[in-house]
Amino acid sequence: MAKHKRIVIGNWKMYIDSPAVAMDVVRHVNRKTAGSKIEIGFAVPFVLLPTMANALKNSKIMLGAQKLSAHGGGAHTGEISAGMLKAVGASFVIVGHSERRENETDAMIAEELLRASEAKLRVVLCVGEKNRDESGAHFEFIAAQLKSALAAFPKISAARSLIIAYEPIWAIGKQADAAMKPAELREMEIFIRKKLTEILGRENAMKVPVLYGGSVEEGNAQSLIEGGDVAGFLVGHASASAATFLPIIQVCEK
Ligand code: 13P
Repeated sequence: MAKHKRIVIGNWKMYIDSPAVAMDVVRHVNRKTAGSKIEIGFAVPFVLLPTMANALKNSKIMLGAQKLSAHGGGAHTGEISAGMLKAVGASFVIVGHSERRENETDAMIAEELLRASEAKLRVVLCVGEKNRDESGAHFEFIAAQLKSALAAFPKISAARSLIIAYEPIWAIGKQADAAMKPAELREMEIFIRKKLTEILGRENAMKVPVLYGGSVEEGNAQSLIEGGDVAGFLVGHASASAATFLPIIQVCEK
C-alpha cells in the first residue's frame, strides 16, 4: 500500500446558505487544526468561494469547488470555468460527484478533468456504484468509470494532482452504521489501485491517494480509515458543522 499524507475534505453540498455561518465553521476548524499534519479541505458552493478564500488567507486549509464547466471559457451562460475557480483562490475541484453525474455524461467528466488539470487545480474524481449484488458487477462499473474519466488525462498530472474518492451511492447520506464496512472498502481500495496501475502505470498510480466518502461520521471514521486502508475521507453532512467535522479530522491525525 502507498503511504500518502492523510486527506480529509468536507463537501458542503448545499448545506450552508449563509456566509456568516460558513465563516464560523471554517474559522473554528482552522483554529483547532493549526498544527495539523494532514491535508484538510472544504469544497464549498461557488458563491462562498471569495468569502472563504478571504477567511483562509494564511491557512493551510485547502479551498475547492464542487464542480466546474467542461468548457474553458466563452459563450456558456451560467457556467463556471477552471480558470475562474483558480482566480478566486480555489486549489482543487470535485469532478464526477454522483449527485452531478445525474446530469453529466462520462465524456463531460473526462473534459472537466482536462480543464481542471490545464488550470493546475487538484482534482477529486468521484467514482461509485449505485448498488451492489452477489455478481460483483460493481467492480466492472468502477473500472469503467475510472477508464473513461482518465483515458485522456495526462499521466504525469495524475501523479501530481489527482485524488480518487470512492463514494458508493447506496452509502451516501445515511447514518454511520449504514455506511460501507471496512473489509469491503479495503477490497475496493485494492481494486481501484490495480485499475489505476493499469491506466496510469505503477509509479504514477502509487502517488494517487484514494479516499472514501459515504456517511462518514465520528462513529465509523476510525474503523474505516484503519480497516479500509484509505488515505482519508470525503465527508458530506458531517462536514457542515465544526462539531461533527473535527472529530473525523482528529481520527485521521492519529
Ligand atoms: P455524506 O457524508 O453526507 O454521506 O456524503 C458523502 C458525499 O457525497 C461526499 O461527497
